[in-house]
Amino acid sequence: MLSDRSRPVIEATLPVVAENIEAIATRFYTHLFGEHPELLDGTFNRGNQAEKTQQMALAASVAVFASSLVKVPEQLPEHLLNRIAHKHASLGITPAQYEVVHDNLFWAIVDVLGDAVTPEVAAAWDEVYWLMAYALINQERGLYSARGVRPETVWREWQVVEKVDETPDVVTFKLRRTDDRLVRTSLPGQYVTVQVPMPDGVRQPRQYSLTKADDGEHRQFSVKRVHGNGKPDGEVSNHLCDSVGVGDRLTLSAPFGDVVLDDSRPVVFASAGVGITPMAGMVSHLASAGSHLPITVLHADVDEASFALRHQVLEDVRFLPEASAHVWYEHGAESSLPVDVHAGQMNLDDVKLPDGAGYYLCGPVPFMRAVRSALIDRDVPARDIQYEVFGPDLWQADLVTEETPGATAA
Ligand SMILES: Cc1cc2nc3c(=O)[nH]c(=O)nc-3n(C[C@H](O)[C@H](O)[C@H](O)COP(=O)(O)OP(=O)(O)OC[C@H]3O[C@@H](n4cnc5c(N)ncnc54)[C@H](O)[C@@H]3O)c2cc1C
Ligand code: HEM
Repeated sequence: MLSDRSRPVIEATLPVVAENIEAIATRFYTHLFGEHPELLDGTFNRGNQAEKTQQMALAASVAVFASSLVKVPEQLPEHLLNRIAHKHASLGITPAQYEVVHDNLFWAIVDVLGDAVTPEVAAAWDEVYWLMAYALINQERGLYSARGVRPETVWREWQVVEKVDETPDVVTFKLRRTDDRLVRTSLPGQYVTVQVPMPDGVRQPRQYSLTKADDGEHRQFSVKRVHGNGKPDGEVSNHLCDSVGVGDRLTLSAPFGDVVLDDSRPVVFASAGVGITPMAGMVSHLASAGSHLPITVLHADVDEASFALRHQVLEDVRFLPEASAHVWYEHGAESSLPVDVHAGQMNLDDVKLPDGAGYYLCGPVPFMRAVRSALIDRDVPARDIQYEVFGPDLWQADLVTEETPGATAA
């Protein structure tokens, strides 16, 4: 909890910090990588740096955390901390690195705000930083311990044993462990960070959702090529699809991710495009557990040929006694599969939703925003809707609410 001394200082300076926080975050990263170039090799995602999404995510998270301390002092913003802690754990972040981030962040704050940072202001923001840092460090310690790993042992080598072209743009990789050590279990909905050596010698980390239930020996994930459309093509997705094949080894983290399946109640999955991946993992888990829960799978895509993992997901749905699936294809209601097919954008008016369900959304942010609004209009409580963003979460105000615990974990 924020001290009585710091609270008024934070309240008074929050507007100026919030106004400048993107500039602070940008200066922070430039300075951090200047001082610690090793963080660019295997820890930070240079695509997110180029897009500035990580700078914005850091800035927004500090602003959300600080205003929450002022507005709701009795409660930490759990969903925000969960999302960040899982991402950090999947990258093997250590407590000692918080000191490094602190020093560089405060250097950037002074660099941007200058004389406005009086000793009193610096002390108050220092308190905010360490409140947030210790909340994250403690949570990350719990996550490492639950997985039986330490930050340095998060990583493990796997070998590609199958590579399947799902669609013209999506490739599924199946990997097997390369030694007899126990495979860490995943919770349905979680992802791994894949750390890939790039042709320039720099390792790049990216997250991929697990698409198949654990079998104690394999991991499976599916990668969609990112086309640049005027900007550079996505480097890791295209490298994996083009240059990594059967027999090659990949370094994967243990599984993490805060949007995980609650399999004690009916479930509705709503996805679009490659957003099917965490849903496929959760449906696979339900199928291998022989679930009798009411399960509704809703998926939107361009057409059937673009629908990745369609055979796996629809087979699992057929196997589950209380499950049904509906798909929407932008290019028309043409399907050769045993599925209820509609033309156009996903429209929830076309489907009956089970009572008391938990909802999981994944896909482009405008898609998730539209589905979430439609669910709220149908009186689904916001706390029952979770979503997964395939990039740093920017804490869109209309997706995150105080009522949405673990909002980003889907
Ligand atoms: C929790 C989570 C789960 C995910 N699950 C999946 C999954 O199951 N399947 C999947 O396919 N993806 C998934 N992703 C997304 C995945 O992690 C990668 O972000 C994705 O594969 C793109 O990586 P890339 O290296 O190909 O693209 P990047 O190289 O990182 O590029 C990303 C964007 O940045 C732009 N960019 C890059 N460099 C520059 C530059 N210099 N100037 C301007 N723009 C630039 C690119 O044009 C592109 O639009 C997930 C992400 C998260 C966070
Ligand atoms: C209080 C301190 C910190 C805050 C507020 C913070 C905040 C964040 C946020 C908001 C994200 C994005 C999460 C998402 O994916 O939605 C993130 C990711 C990340 N953080 Fe932190 N972080 C802190 C400390 C650290 C430390 C000490 C390190 C170690 C160097 C670190 C390294 C990373 C990395 C590598 C990512 C992923 C970046 C990417 O994928 O682009 N963070 N952090």
